[in-house]
Amino acid sequence: MSSALDRYVVIGNPIEHSKSPAIHAQFALQTQQALSYERLLVPLDGFDIAIKELIANGVRGANVTLPFKLDAYNIATDLTPRARAAGAVNTLKFEGDKILGDNTDGIGLVRDIVVNAGVALQGSRILLLGAGGAARGVILPLLSELPAELVIANRTIQKAQDLLAHFHGHLVALDASSFEALSGEFDVVINATSASLSDSVPNISSSLFNEQSFIYDMMYGATPTPFMQWAAEKKASVRDGLGMLVEQAAESFELWRGVRPDTAAVYTELRSQLDYSA
Ligand code: ATR
Repeated sequence: MSSALDRYVVIGNPIEHSKSPAIHAQFALQTQQALSYERLLVPLDGFDIAIKELIANGVRGANVTLPFKLDAYNIATDLTPRARAAGAVNTLKFEGDKILGDNTDGIGLVRDIVVNAGVALQGSRILLLGAGGAARGVILPLLSELPAELVIANRTIQKAQDLLAHFHGHLVALDASSFEALSGEFDVVINATSASLSDSVPNISSSLFNEQSFIYDMMYGATPTPFMQWAAEKKASVRDGLGMLVEQAAESFELWRGVRPDTAAVYTELRSQLDYSA
C-alpha cells in the first residue's frame, strides 16, 4: 500500500461481511480523497491493543462494529454529545494524543428517514421498538428532530424504563412502555429490536399504525424483513435499514475528511447487489 494514502479501518468480530470498505471506497472515488479503508478482524479481548497499534502505525480513524462499540466508547479521550448519549461509539478519529469518539448511527437513521424517504419527524408521534444498544444509539438524534412524542417500547418494560432514565430535559414528550400497554396511532414506527435476526416480528398491535404511517426496520437483507412484510400487509409504507447504513458511513467520512459524499449513488449500487427493491 502506498504511504501517500491516509489509512482507515473497520474493526469488528466477525468482520468479513462488512459492506463499509465498498461504501468508503466509493465515497473516496467520488470526492477524490486519497485514502485506503480495510477490514480489521480483532480478537474479542484485543480491542485496546489493536487501537494502540493502529495509532502507532499512523492510521487516521476507524469505524467500529459489533461487539466493540462499548470498548470504543471507553477508549475515546473525547466524546461527541451524541456518542455520550448513545453510550457507544461507531467512529473513532485519531488526532495526535486525542481519540475522538462519535456515534453516527442515529443521525444516519434520521437522514435516511427525513432526507431520503422524505418523512418529516418534527411534530410526529414516533414509536421506537427495542431498548438495547441499537435503540439507545438513535434516541438523541430522534429527539433533536423535535417530534411531538417519542415512546420507547420493549418486550421487557424494565429495560425501556432504564433506557428512558438516560434521557431527560428534552422538549419532547418521552415515555417508556411495554408492547401490550401501547395505545393510539403512531406516524412513525422504528424497529430497533433484533427480532428480524431470528425472523420474528415484535408482538405489537397493528392498530398502532395506519395507512399513512411510515414503518422503518433498522435491519436489511435480500428480502424485506418479516416486520416490514407484516406492516406492508396493513398497507403502511415500509423501509429497511440499508439507507441508514450508507448515511452513517457518510457521516463518518465527513467527520474524517471534511467533505460530504453523495449517498444516493452508493445506496442504489448496494440495493442492486441485494437484489430487491424496498
Ligand atoms: P442491540 O444492540 O441490537 O440493540 P441487544 O442489546 O441484545 O441488541 O437488544 C436486543 C433488543 O431486541 C432488546 O430490546 C430485545 O428485547 P428484550 O429486552 O425484551 O430482550 C429485543 N428483541 C429481541 N428479539 C425480540 C423479539 N423476538 N421480539 C421483540 N423484541 C425482541
